[in-house]
Amino acid sequence: MYICICKAVNESAIRQAVDDGVQTYRDLSMRTGCGTQCGSCVKMTRQVLSQALEEAGIPEVSEKLRLVSCG
Ligand code: FES
Repeated sequence: MYICICKAVNESAIRQAVDDGVQTYRDLSMRTGCGTQCGSCVKMTRQVLSQALEEAGIPEVSEKLRLVSCG
């Protein structure tokens, strides 16, 4: 089932992205383009991402608390 119609992103692509290391909505959006056009899919995409992370046993990372290496 397509989650983001504008960018043709389906549930499988989101689960694959999680398998490949995606942990945040921002990363998912940058990788797949989902949510970058009309934006109507953002809520559903976040839900599917959250579920995929939970099923993979990966704790959800807050976008605001994400650590960035400096140097
Ligand atoms: S449905 Fe995802 S950006 Fe439009």
